[in-house]
Amino acid sequence: MHPYQIIRLGNPALRLVSKPFSEEEFGSTELKNLAETLFKIMHLEKGIGLAAPQIGVTKRAIVFGMDKHPVHSHYAAIPFTLLLNPSFIPLSDTMVDAYEGCLSAGNLRGKVSRYQSILYKGYDVDGKLIEREVADLHARVFQHEYDHLNGEIFLDKIKDLRSLGFHDELLRAGLLPEKQVE
Ligand code: NI
Repeated sequence: MHPYQIIRLGNPALRLVSKPFSEEEFGSTELKNLAETLFKIMHLEKGIGLAAPQIGVTKRAIVFGMDKHPVHSHYAAIPFTLLLNPSFIPLSDTMVDAYEGCLSAGNLRGKVSRYQSILYKGYDVDGKLIEREVADLHARVFQHEYDHLNGEIFLDKIKDLRSLGFHDELLRAGLLPEKQVE
């Protein structure tokens, strides 16, 4: 495993707008290495999503995915996916509030409103189009990671700052019954 560092809140690099990949970059060894690194770090950090700018790569690449959780088995598994140059459109106006966290924001959690269902698109390492209609946690994690590519953090989108708290305190208070995006 290559040494790596998750860039955390306060580092201006997290606020940059990431650059798209050009067609010539698809299929390159460099891109394959980046994909592998993103997945490895996501697994090591036990996150369900990670965006390239969080490891200091200002390019439009995100990964996410989750096995079916042994405890939270009512959550469907999310296929482990890499998306390059991702985009999305909402499939309805319905918004859902839920707690999120971020590997770049330590133990902070806060409630963010996201589109409940979306159609997302993006490319795999070889430039093949991936297009999916998704909802709930899958849609949420996509929107969270997508925001990183535009220099946005979930904290920017918390409507009521009183929902903000530390993971262990919120757990103790019984306010975190659900699996969160991280
Ligand atoms: Ni994040």
